[in-house]
Amino acid sequence: MNKRVLVKFSGEALANKEGYGIDTSVLKYIASEIKDLVDNNIEVGIVIGGGNIVRGVSASKDGIIKRTTGDYMGMLATVINAVAMQEALEYFGLKVRVQSAIKMQEICEPFIVRRAQRHLEKGRVVIFAAGTGNPFFTTDTAATLRAIEIGASMIIKATKVDGVYDKDPAKFKDAKKIPVLSYEMALEDNIKVMDDTSIALAKDNSIPIVVCDMFKKGNLKKIINGDYSSCSVVKKLN
Ligand code: GTP
Repeated sequence: MNKRVLVKFSGEALANKEGYGIDTSVLKYIASEIKDLVDNNIEVGIVIGGGNIVRGVSASKDGIIKRTTGDYMGMLATVINAVAMQEALEYFGLKVRVQSAIKMQEICEPFIVRRAQRHLEKGRVVIFAAGTGNPFFTTDTAATLRAIEIGASMIIKATKVDGVYDKDPAKFKDAKKIPVLSYEMALEDNIKVMDDTSIALAKDNSIPIVVCDMFKKGNLKKIINGDYSSCSVVKKLN
């Protein structure tokens, strides 16, 4: 079985209690979970969002900052998260490489897919930073793109909820979890798994998207080992 995966973490999940910046205890927790994967010979690519620092859409809301500039600011935020995560992973003794979609060679390597693949083969964790390098694309789309490029067997969207619901579980008590859904279902308006671009890309390449609770210890390993009981999976149905 192909044990190469791409894990997408939301930037927001890294935030401190005030909802901003980087909480190093979260970094440490994520790093220990990733170490557990690497110790089990799983090759891990990571994409982290930037919402804990700046979001393109929100930064450009009042029209002072153009959307394209706001999105570049968001991409820079993902680089900050990536280098912070690199440190946390190295703290646990892992080998890590950060590759950025926007060249900033003093800080990290440029994204080169063949090089990323070699790093993964050598057991290094590769963190893909700066989104796709283009405005108007989300880090979910970047995660899907990178997952396909590196030949990952799945994209794991590690988030604050334990799966996909028919309505927002934070707002509705009767929200029902959907354990398995098709790409078409994931594109429906009430189901916010990822944005449409990411879903379409995943669908075209038949790569499964697993949505799970990142704060449930051992969850990532469990999922990669084929136990989907505590998450939702978006995949091609029949
Ligand atoms: P191998 O070819 O498998 O030995 O990979 P490697 O990544 O160890 O080799 P390389 O000599 O390319 O990199 C050595 C160190 O320099 C690693 O920590 C890389 O992350 C870092 N590095 C390589 N290229 C760049 C770059 O363009 N910018 C930055 N900032 N660091 C780089």
